[in-house]
Amino acid sequence: MAHSYFLPLFISLIVISSVSANFQRDVEITWGDGRGQIKNNGELLTLSLDKSSGSGFQSKNEYLFGKIDMQMKLVPGNSAGTVTTLYLKSPGTTWDEIDFEFLGNLSGDPYTLHTNVYTQGKGDKEQQFKLWFDPTADFHTYTILWNPQRIIFTVDGTPIREFKNMESVGTLFPKNQPMRMYSSLWNADDWATRGGLVKTDWSKAPFTASYRGFNQEACVWSNGKSSCPNGSGQGTTGSWLSQELDSTAQERMRWVQKNYMIYNYCTDTKRFPQVYLFVKLKSPGTTWDEIDFEFLGNLSGDPYTLHTNVYTQGKGDKEQQFKLWFDPTADFHTYTILWNPQRIIFTVDGTPIREFKNMESVGTLFPKNQPMRMYSSLWNADDWATRGGLVKTDWSKAPFTASYRGFNQEACVWSNGKSSCPNGSGQGTTGSWLSQELDSTAQERMRWVQKNYMIYNYCTDTKRFPQGLPKECFAA
Ligand SMILES: *[C@@H]1O[C@H](CO)[C@@H](O)[C@H](O)[C@H]1NC(C)=O
Ligand SMILES: *[C@@H]1O[C@H](CO)[C@@H](O)[C@H](O)[C@H]1NC(C)=O
Ligand SMILES: *[C@@H]1O[C@H](CO)[C@@H](O)[C@H](O)[C@H]1NC(C)=O
Ligand SMILES: *[C@@H]1O[C@H](CO)[C@@H](O)[C@H](O)[C@H]1NC(C)=O
Repeated sequence: MAHSYFLPLFISLIVISSVSANFQRDVEITWGDGRGQIKNNGELLTLSLDKSSGSGFQSKNEYLFGKIDMQMKLVPGNSAGTVTTLYLKSPGTTWDEIDFEFLGNLSGDPYTLHTNVYTQGKGDKEQQFKLWFDPTADFHTYTILWNPQRIIFTVDGTPIREFKNMESVGTLFPKNQPMRMYSSLWNADDWATRGGLVKTDWSKAPFTASYRGFNQEACVWSNGKSSCPNGSGQGTTGSWLSQELDSTAQERMRWVQKNYMIYNYCTDTKRFPQVYLFVKLKSPGTTWDEIDFEFLGNLSGDPYTLHTNVYTQGKGDKEQQFKLWFDPTADFHTYTILWNPQRIIFTVDGTPIREFKNMESVGTLFPKNQPMRMYSSLWNADDWATRGGLVKTDWSKAPFTASYRGFNQEACVWSNGKSSCPNGSGQGTTGSWLSQELDSTAQERMRWVQKNYMIYNYCTDTKRFPQGLPKECFAA
């Protein structure tokens, strides 16, 4: 009934279907101070990123459902730390959003294509993919199809993801808020690449991504009204508004998901506490000394990262990170910080994993003048601790608990400006921890850990220290 009522309107309300893209007409460059440019009479758009900032544009139209195609050629070469986005988003604090995000990488290493869907401000629907081609060599078409029944992410006509309207089982689906299309190129080397360990190489700036072939078949929202029949697209059967994946398309999607999907929130049924536990020795003040053991929680089944660092007079940058060779959540394990005037040794269950030697002889600072207190805390750090904040804490598993026992302190206790050790630096107590070194067995075990479980070492990060690695890296 309603069908036939609206049928006559169908022709007159035919949705925008631009044959030739015209960026001049259809989008606005919203930021970037000249780094975003429309060229060739509106056929081509480029976004650039340099050290000062990135750039971005948005569609002039707002949509309530649509099929948006964009041809993009991503930043080539060493694009580590750059993020190129293409997304639909509504304004406000309970926004809806449909995301394509392209995380750049070192030359030769693949981009990560990240997808997500937010409804009323709630996301946590991440799926990530590698691509089966080099997205920087030529233009490829990325499509977001959004209709009342499903969202389909498509790359060059191949669907890579379908997010179905599952309101029937209580899952929110974006369908009430008009969204605009946005795209941007920006720097996120603080989180996009391996938790910020790989930095953007600014000597390669400006970074440029190119766009063409913007096509919007959509229900355009304007003055509180949709351009589509009755606001939800009924009466336009056969079009993108009721599009589904046929069996061929489903098969192609399965092929992509089998071979190129690298993360799927749906297989993370038991999202593990994304918590951060640290044990540290630290002195007060702005030029503090600090020795850190930090444990970054992960999804169930995925390993914790054990992060270590040493600060002297407020200066750190001495990170080493490890996986553990056991499940640190199944039972108690012993973590030891040995700090004497010659070295700091980090030990796990008696196995040394790291030695930070006193290398004042080559000019490296070593903490030895400020008394420190031991601290430990457990807190939520899901905005940065796990994959650049992509994995969120599952609060349904709260409260999260870490347990402690066996606290043992053999130490020079500092009190009222005096040490409890002979003459304040431990001489006279030879043979104890105060003069402890690693014997050859201990060194061999440490080499085993470092060979098999070390995942980051500041001493090998030549990209981070282009003027040369810190001196102590050679002295040891
Ligand atoms: C649009 O029309 C359908 C029937 O074709 C009806 O079920 C639906 O409620 C209508 N939606 C709106 C927003 O009016
Ligand atoms: C960069 O490439 C490496 C090696 O394939 C991969 O492990 C990593 O996830 C990639 N990083 C991004 C941000 O895509
Ligand atoms: C979580 O596990 C994944 C998969 O092994 C790993 O890539 C990631 O670095 C881990 N994250 C943390 C914070 O340890
Ligand atoms: C501690 O005693 C040693 C000799 O045992 C001496 O060389 C050193 O200077 C003394 N240190 C302090 C801080 O008094």
